[in-house]
Amino acid sequence: MFCLEHETAADGPAVERLLDRAFGPERHAKTCQRLRDGHTPSHGLAFVVRLQEEVIATIRFWDLSIGGGHRALLLGPLAVEADHRSGGWGGKLVRYGLNQAALRGHRAVILVGDAPYYVKFGFSPEVTRGMMMPGPVDRARFLGLELSPGALAGAAGMVLPGRAPVLVPLLPAPHMVEEARQVAA
Ligand SMILES: CC(C)(COP(=O)(O)OP(=O)(O)OC[C@H]1O[C@@H](n2cnc3c(N)ncnc32)[C@H](O)[C@@H]1OP(=O)(O)O)[C@@H](O)C(=O)NCCC(=O)NCCS
Repeated sequence: MFCLEHETAADGPAVERLLDRAFGPERHAKTCQRLRDGHTPSHGLAFVVRLQEEVIATIRFWDLSIGGGHRALLLGPLAVEADHRSGGWGGKLVRYGLNQAALRGHRAVILVGDAPYYVKFGFSPEVTRGMMMPGPVDRARFLGLELSPGALAGAAGMVLPGRAPVLVPLLPAPHMVEEARQVAA
């Protein structure tokens, strides 16, 4: 029986072997890997599909900041064991992962991947236009999705790993504005 479940620490080696088969050893040289090295997936956002005890599919999401002003998740890698492709597991993992991300309060997701595969989930290159990756990237494959409308509006600058503090403009609280107005009057 197939089960879609949270990845556990014990799944790590099986997931790595599946990723090696799906992407080859050159996967470690990808620009996206610079955003994952030394980090763990975003809390509660790494999933596997198991058939009996065997891991046959994986998806992971990672915390990011963009230009110091926006937070997002990085989706990937996503891989399904060759014998089990075109059975819908890739799509199920993407949709389930995006739902879980939204439930955990995440507002946007970016990735580098095959646009023809990811457009059906709503990803597009438009929202990443102002972003820079820490290495070479094919812009046609650099895609984003807003889980909350407008979450990536104005998102620009370098994409960095981790949950770096996001700078927000300091605005005075409404009661302070009112007090200042009364003092000035
Ligand atoms: C991409 C991948 C995860 C899809 O998993 P899956 O379980 O086969 O996906 P689904 O069953 O949900 O969807 C299959 C459909 O997606 C299509 N598809 C698969 N890979 C695609 C790609 N790279 N680009 C465009 N379409 C793709 C299939 O042709 C199939 O189309 P159909 O439904 O019209 O027959 C899987 O093929 C895989 O692991 N590939 C190698 C690793 C990889 O490239 N991962 C990331 C993609 S950037």
